[in-house]
This record gives sequence, C-alpha cells and structure tokens, in this order.
Amino acid sequence: MSKLTVHGAKAASAATSKSDIVVVPLFTNEDLSASASQVNTAAGDVLQRAISIGDADAKLGKITTMVGSGNIARVMSVGCGDRASFNLEAQLVVTAAVSGVLAASKAKNVMFVGDTIADNKVALAQFLEFLGRDTAMACYRYTATLGTPKPGPTLTKLTVAVDSISAAKVKQALSVGATIGNGANLTRELVNLPGNVCTPSYLAKEGRALGRKYDKLSVSVLDEKKMANMGMGSLLSVGNGSDEPSKLIVMKYDGGPAKQAPYCLVGKGITFDTGGISLKPAKGMESMKFDMGGAGSVFGVMQTVAELGLNINVIGVVAAAENMPSGCATKPGDVVTSMSGKTIEILNTDAEGRLVLCDALTYVERFKPAEVVDIATLTGAIIVSLGHEASGLFANDDGLAESLTAAGLASGDEAWRLPINKRYDRQLNSKFADMQNIGTGTAGSITAACFLARFAEKYKWAHLDVAGTAFQNMQKGATGRPVPLLVEYLRQRAG
Ligand code: BES
Ligand code: MN
Ligand code: ZN
Repeated sequence: MSKLTVHGAKAASAATSKSDIVVVPLFTNEDLSASASQVNTAAGDVLQRAISIGDADAKLGKITTMVGSGNIARVMSVGCGDRASFNLEAQLVVTAAVSGVLAASKAKNVMFVGDTIADNKVALAQFLEFLGRDTAMACYRYTATLGTPKPGPTLTKLTVAVDSISAAKVKQALSVGATIGNGANLTRELVNLPGNVCTPSYLAKEGRALGRKYDKLSVSVLDEKKMANMGMGSLLSVGNGSDEPSKLIVMKYDGGPAKQAPYCLVGKGITFDTGGISLKPAKGMESMKFDMGGAGSVFGVMQTVAELGLNINVIGVVAAAENMPSGCATKPGDVVTSMSGKTIEILNTDAEGRLVLCDALTYVERFKPAEVVDIATLTGAIIVSLGHEASGLFANDDGLAESLTAAGLASGDEAWRLPINKRYDRQLNSKFADMQNIGTGTAGSITAACFLARFAEKYKWAHLDVAGTAFQNMQKGATGRPVPLLVEYLRQRAG
C-alpha cells in the first residue's frame, strides 16, 4: 500500500508545482478563483474549454478529468453545488468523490486548489479533515491473503493550496483526517481477514503490538483460566465448542490526568460465528468472519486516539471468541452463570454476541468509567430496520445518546437511536434462569440491547449495533465504521 503524505501550500503555487492531477472545485455561478485561473492557463485552458462545452460543471459530486499540459499532467474538476448549501453533507459528497477517483487514478502527486472551499476557517478545517480521511481510506486495499496482489493505488502526496490559513494548519487538518482514516483502515484490515487467520489469539497479538507501539497505551490479555477465575461463565460458554481459546483484551490509554474517569469501549470480537449448535444456514455464512467488527473498531479507535494524543483516558476492551458447534459446545437450554452472578438460559447459541459482551460489561465496572460504549455486529434485525446507512444506537442515558448522535452526524458516520424499556425487556424473562438470551422474535435488535442493559446498570452506557454498517457484503468488505463516529465522540469529550 502506498504511504500517503499530506501538505499545505500557498494558493499561487498550485499552477507552478509539478502535479499528476490538479483538483479544482467548482461552485454554481462562480468564476474560477485567481489560483484556479492560473492553473487553467498553465494547463492550456482545458478547464475553461471543458466548462464552455458543458463537460465540466458544478453539479454536486461531478468529476471531470482533463489532460493538461506542461507541469500539470491532468486537471480534475469537482462539482460542489451551490455555495449556500455547501454543508457538511455536501462536503462529504465532494471528498468521497474526489478521493475515490484519485485512488483509482495513476497519480502519485496531487494538488488540490482549496482557496474557494470556504472563507470561514472552521469549515475549511473540517473539509480538510474529511479530505485527508477519505483519501487515506480510498487508498486502502486488502492484500493480506492474496498470493499475487494486484497493483494498488499509487497516490503518495496530497497538497492543498489555500491562503486563508497557514500551510502548517492545512497540513495539520489533513493529517488529523488521515490519522482517522488510517485507524479506520486498521479496523477494515482486521475485519476483512478470514476467520482462520484472525482468531481470538490473533486479536490478542494485535493488541499487544499496539501496546508496544504507543507509550501511553498498555495492553493486557486475560486467558480462559483467568476469565474462569473471575466467573465469566457466559463469555466462556461461547468458545466452548471451539479449539481456539477465548481472550479478553484490555487496552488502556492514559492520555488524561490519572484521577480522571476513563471512557470505555467494549467490542464484540466473535472471530467467526457459525451460530454454534443453533447452526446458521450455509448460504452467506462466510460473511460471519465480519462478526468481530465491533472489536475491530475498538482497535482502530485506540490506534487513532494514541496517534492523536487525545488528553483523556480511554479503555478498550475486546471480548474475543469463536462460535463453533462441537461435542463440547453449549446447547440450547443450557444455563450459565455470568460474572455478575445473574444466570442465563441459552435458548439460541446464535445469540452469542450478548453472551460475551455481558461479562465484558461487568468487567469494566472496576474502572469506574465516565461512560461505556459497546460496539457489536449484534443482530441481523438492525439491517432490516436501518439498512446499511445508520448504526443502531441504544442507551440508558439521554446525554450520551445525544452526544453519539451528534458525533455521527459531524463525522458522516450516522447512528439512529432506538428505544429500550421494560415492555421490550420482559421478553427476556425465563422460567429456568434470571433471563434467557433471546426474545420472542419481534424487535430483535431492541431485545438484544435490553439484554445488555441488564449488565450496564452501574454506569452511563450506550450500545451501537453495527451489523449493517461495519460491512455491507463480502465483495465490498469492511467499511471501518463506526471509527469516525467514536473518534469524534472522544475528541468532543477531550474538549
Ligand atoms: N452475528 C450475528 C448478527 C449478524 C447478522 C451480523 C447478520 C451481521 C449480519 C449474531 O450473532 C446473530 O446471529 N444474531 C441472531 C440473533 C437471534 C438468534 C436472536 C440474528 O440476528 O439472527
Ligand atoms: Mn450469532
Ligand atoms: Zn454473532
């Protein structure tokens, strides 16, 4: 994979630097800026001619690529629509379109003429973060298990030319964005890896590697014996049928004052979900290698937080197990005792995510957390409700739910809140245990969240059901969501 570096420059340098592509944003009914005009002239008037014959225009997200001349090999225009409606959503359309075309091109060195993007400095910084993030993400290619990897993106240098803020500030904003993009790419890589490579032990190794990389990040791994001593009977019941040992991975980032309560992230790390004895159908089962998407996002966020050096304390906990059928596997009707002491009747071994998460949620009580957010590819039902657009959001605290919703909107990584309350929760009552692990069949995402809520009574808690957003399908692979949302939330909390 090419390593992307980002830079800021003066607007006037756009026309004189050597670039494989110079990107020029176009707004409806606006003339080219001075620097864009210079680019046009240096490239042999290609942009003006493309505009006059109607090839290039300002329609939001429209990309037109022209062969240039001299030191400018190509000019690429991108439509930004009306300036009055160039809001966050429109900006994201532009950065997604530009980054996608750049990554697919043969360009190494790209100049973006940014002086018309915004007069308002805050909006410009936001745009630059999106551009850095989306470009880093567009340059990701999965090659880990390919014998002969195809040639990937060639882009190594992205420069944005503006005058309204310093080159250092431009570089800073682009690089914050790229750091978030790289974090999301780490998530995508872990989530894309097949189940025979990315096992609970592999995730533990990945955690230890992150711990070695960052001073402020310390990582410990609890093995099955330690978990058994702590009474994690629910978590351990999920891995019973597997030869792969389960792991609880604990990553502590100390960026804030020692006495400050940490923010905890808890990820579902089912490295493969066959359903267990409640076996899933063969068709599409391969996509259950993505069932550690929540855990993957915890790794991506921890890397990003450490890389950005946020001044808060964050603890990432990953509950990793493989859900397999075997002679040792948990059976429907089995009753297990969770770390909280509450007993659970397992009526469906395919509702395993909640079984690993509940013990991890009890475990994090010891950190006296400020807030806890769990992230899980928990239910197929959330895809029925929200498709692949928004993550499902559930919370026992309105303030936390509002913060996460706002962070989703601000990062273009949306979450939508659904209810949890006792009318849904009562579906979980059982005759043979304190609760059962499935409801009666309706509102499956909500009853799953109600189950988790029973283990999160001692702190402010939210749950993100990312079954629809962490990946779309086998072809497209992992998306890196909800890393942008979570990083935005933690940056807000860091102030
Ligand atoms: N990992 C699945 C949920 C899932 C489904 C994620 C599709 C991504 C795509 C989860 O462990 C599961 O199997 N859930 C069951 C729960 C049911 C047995 C109550 C489901 O959604 O069908
Ligand atoms: Mn399952
Ligand atoms: Zn699962």
